[in-house]
Amino acid sequence: MTPTKAYLTRPRERYKDSFIDAVYEYIREKRTVNWHPEILRARFDEYLRVLQQAETDPLAGMVPATQFWLVSENDGYIGDVDVRHHLNEGLKRYGGHIGYKIRPSFRRRGYGALICRLGILEARKRGVGDILITCDDDNIGSSRIIEVNGGVLQDKIDNGRHALTRRYWIRDSR
Ligand SMILES: CC(C)(COP(=O)(O)OP(=O)(O)OC[C@H]1O[C@@H](n2cnc3c(N)ncnc32)[C@H](O)[C@@H]1OP(=O)(O)O)[C@@H](O)C(=O)NCCC(=O)NCCS
Repeated sequence: MTPTKAYLTRPRERYKDSFIDAVYEYIREKRTVNWHPEILRARFDEYLRVLQQAETDPLAGMVPATQFWLVSENDGYIGDVDVRHHLNEGLKRYGGHIGYKIRPSFRRRGYGALICRLGILEARKRGVGDILITCDDDNIGSSRIIEVNGGVLQDKIDNGRHALTRRYWIRDSR
């Protein structure tokens, strides 16, 4: 199914409630979250500032990165994508230029493929040519998403995780 009427936006107050609901879903699937939902509820402005800072003034060891939220008018926050403006040694092994997730209750509707495609466009706007995307070898959904978006598998490397890391490149054909 092709999702309609979902688009990327910068994180904003308007999508606070749906985002916090999604964070509870991420916790239920045992995903690590940086901010507990009740802290987010109390200090959402601060959270938005931290995301902004990641773009212009990243913490030591981090590269500048822009986070976008995939939203729709009816559903609010559906997922997020981090677009890293360049790679460091760590990201070359794990993470790459683009990382995304879709909230569990909205999966298997095509939003993963969409957020990846839109993330690629945002990376290109920021001057990234060839785009590296990585995923765990057993992440069937993400592998599929990368491949439908033109990713070519470079290799699988051992990062000491539960599965090897697949490294895909989306070449700049411009
Ligand atoms: C991976 C993830 C983004 C997929 O999101 P999604 O919205 O379900 O993806 P889509 O609906 O666009 O599915 C894309 C394709 O993958 C397939 N797929 C998705 N999840 C799958 C799964 N768990 N098992 C098998 N196939 C799967 C879909 O059937 C679809 O295949 P098709 O192109 O043949 O129709 C989502 O599961 C997620 O957020 N996971 C946790 C975070 C994560 O792994 N991020 C990626 C890091 S690299």
